[in-house]
Amino acid sequence: MFFSKLSYTLGLCCLAAGTILQNGQVRTTNYPDIKIDVASYRFRTYDANATEISYKGRWDSKKVSWWSAPGLVFGFTGDTVAITFGDLTTDTTLVGYRIGGMDWSFTNVSAGATHLFVSSATPGVHETWPFNPLPFELRVTNWAYGVQIAQVHVAEGESLVRIPPHQRTIEFIGDSLSAGMYTSFEGLSSFAYGVGAGLGDTEYYVTAYPGICVSDQNCWGNPRGQAHQWFYTSDTSWRASTIWGDAPEPWDFERQETTPDIVVINLGTNDNNSANNVSTATYVDAYTKLIQGIHGKYPKAQVIVMQLWMGFYASGNSYAQNQGYEQELKDIVAYFNSDEYLSAPLVWDGATNTTTKLDAPSEPFVSYFSTRGIMQHNDIGPAWHPTDVGAIKVASHLSQFIKLTFGWELVATGPEIFHETLYWNDEQNY
Ligand SMILES: *[C@@H]1O[C@H](CO)[C@@H](O)[C@H](O)[C@H]1NC(C)=O
Ligand SMILES: *[C@@H]1O[C@H](CO)[C@@H](O)[C@H](O)[C@H]1NC(C)=O
Ligand SMILES: *[C@@H]1O[C@H](CO)[C@@H](O)[C@H](O)[C@H]1NC(C)=O
Ligand SMILES: *[C@@H]1O[C@H](CO)[C@@H](O)[C@H](O)[C@H]1NC(C)=O
Repeated sequence: MFFSKLSYTLGLCCLAAGTILQNGQVRTTNYPDIKIDVASYRFRTYDANATEISYKGRWDSKKVSWWSAPGLVFGFTGDTVAITFGDLTTDTTLVGYRIGGMDWSFTNVSAGATHLFVSSATPGVHETWPFNPLPFELRVTNWAYGVQIAQVHVAEGESLVRIPPHQRTIEFIGDSLSAGMYTSFEGLSSFAYGVGAGLGDTEYYVTAYPGICVSDQNCWGNPRGQAHQWFYTSDTSWRASTIWGDAPEPWDFERQETTPDIVVINLGTNDNNSANNVSTATYVDAYTKLIQGIHGKYPKAQVIVMQLWMGFYASGNSYAQNQGYEQELKDIVAYFNSDEYLSAPLVWDGATNTTTKLDAPSEPFVSYFSTRGIMQHNDIGPAWHPTDVGAIKVASHLSQFIKLTFGWELVATGPEIFHETLYWNDEQNY
């Protein structure tokens, strides 16, 4: 019974429908329409490939965004920023955007349209501290939707300024649980985003897509698994097959803006669903290949294997949690920490289907993160995914684990991470 419900909800379902429930009440989402007629403005215009623009996460050579929470960042002078979106933009994609450390704003963007994201009325735009030059950031909220950047505009006489990337980078490889499915702002409410943005001064890439397995086979309509697809620029969506057919661009790891120092994997919830017919041996093999792939592409990166959480069920007079591949994941971690592996490390390339041996031995690089006890039954929503609170709990614990294990200080000390999480009790006298 539990599994049949889970299988329904981890599927490739529902493009962003737009209603957010908060404590059972419909949350108001009247985001501003900031579309403009570009002809009535005097702009200085940059092409999408301008070197001042940094693309975060995976974008293809047509400047189309993929996976979860991809974004772009650039500095600018003056008080105006507009973006023209290309025809490959999914109409009405909800994007988050902000300047400096100000709160996120949201708006729906349209294919072929120009949107004015920053104007002289934008709070903070005339301040010169602590950010100077002032960065602009935009992130796509929904994994299945995407945008294509055509042009970026600033006011006439003003310019874009390149903002160098942060020194630390973390990447998440996952499914719907990392992509933020069913949280308020999807990718921008996910635990993965919460860790990546919440650490502060960190680049984060969320290579996650709902329904996907690590095993390279069809799961819930995703034609390939992460042991293969992680090596590609685009994800496993219908949108990707429409734009790239069966010839997606391999991801150019060499040209990625930064190389991840830490990679977190949360995969197996879909493999562990009987509807997808993945055998345990297939799962272990694919998961092992994925770690070998990461080690090949990022030889210096630390890899964190996350214990799966499968959801909770009522049990007697309490609740209990389902686990999946519990021992298998521990065995995989042990294999990577064994002399057998470290003395003659194998690396995998899912784009060429080849395993090769590294010339030199490796130092241990794989750790296990136990999620046991972090979430309780009401941290998983009716659609079997973490609620906003569940995502924040996982993000908080994982951030602390990263700090304690790798010495990464938490350096974000003010700017908003999770939007619209300010719920509190303002009644003093009940
Ligand atoms: C954004 O687009 C979605 C899908 O078309 C729509 O349901 C929603 O009302 C739009 N939101 C705004 C604020 O325009
Ligand atoms: C950007 O693309 C245009 C053609 O679309 C080309 O002329 C220009 O040289 C490119 N600029 C950079 C920085 O690659
Ligand atoms: C899984 O296996 C069953 C029984 O062999 C088969 O009926 C079903 O179509 C398979 N499902 C998938 C997704 O391959
Ligand atoms: C899920 O994982 C458990 C053990 O970790 C295993 O016994 C079970 O067969 C798996 N189920 C499926 C459907 O893969």
